[in-house]
Amino acid sequence: MNAQQLSAEFGVKGVVEFSEQGGLAKAVVSRDGMHGELFLQGATVTAWAPAGARPVIFTSPKAVFAPGTAVRGGIPIIFPWFGPKQDEPKAPQHGFVRAAPWKLESVETSRPGEVTLRLGISEAEATSPFWPDAYRATYTVTFGKALSIELAVQNRAGHEIRFEEALHTYFAISDIAKASVTGLSGTTFIDKVDGFQRKTQDGAPIKLSGETDRVYLSTPGRAVIEDAEWRRRIVVEKDGAASSIVWNPWTEKAAAMKDLGAEAWRGMICVETGNAADNAVRLAAGGEHRMTTRISVDAA
Ligand code: BG6
Repeated sequence: MNAQQLSAEFGVKGVVEFSEQGGLAKAVVSRDGMHGELFLQGATVTAWAPAGARPVIFTSPKAVFAPGTAVRGGIPIIFPWFGPKQDEPKAPQHGFVRAAPWKLESVETSRPGEVTLRLGISEAEATSPFWPDAYRATYTVTFGKALSIELAVQNRAGHEIRFEEALHTYFAISDIAKASVTGLSGTTFIDKVDGFQRKTQDGAPIKLSGETDRVYLSTPGRAVIEDAEWRRRIVVEKDGAASSIVWNPWTEKAAAMKDLGAEAWRGMICVETGNAADNAVRLAAGGEHRMTTRISVDAA
């Protein structure tokens, strides 16, 4: 559906409006000063800010908005594998739904201050030669004082499946040199920039000082991004999601990424909620798995 058709079916004047960017339809939601945006391609949230707050979600100023291209920034949905697919070097990184055509199924505005969009995808919309199984995923996003998200995956394959998933969330921060992450102390992480070694996180807040790419396993339900310069704390709560991934490409890698570039990476950090590596999900035939996250902002 194009923006005009979406407006006719789902639009709520001044609250949920649809427009197009790079030929892609997006929903723009506004309520009591809260602002949010979501592209139907990839069901990718690209903006959210509660009333009066700076943007919480980072989207690269050089992000490419085009059919079939994943957005650099926002919250790309990673499914059904995280990173390169094990034993399948030709498979695209991070699965095949982050730039696929999700369908908007409903828009709900009955709760004060909130807008909920529900989208779905199945093998009818997106398949991959590397994923022969039938599936359905439903993505429910509530924009409000908090940003609440649920990714539900149904196994329609007729046999048990194993999958990975992540909400590859790019957070907006003042400066990577002034931000830190807490809540992951004592957990084991796979350090992808140090030969995939397994390490234990110490008790100090995590401060990044170079390229960082870590899959934290079996993490607690709450991680916090402390941003001293902007005097705020971004709280990331999760359920049904055992992993947290912390990523920043740093100087050289960022400069080599055309859709990120030499400067903007300092203003972002990915703290992703998911189920990856040892935490991959095994789902029985006919079963459903739900992963949720709730993102909120506190003054620090
Ligand atoms: C992170 C991975 O989640 O995503 C990194 O851990 C990867 O290894 C990064 O580089 C970005 O991936 P992409 O495919 O969006 O460039």
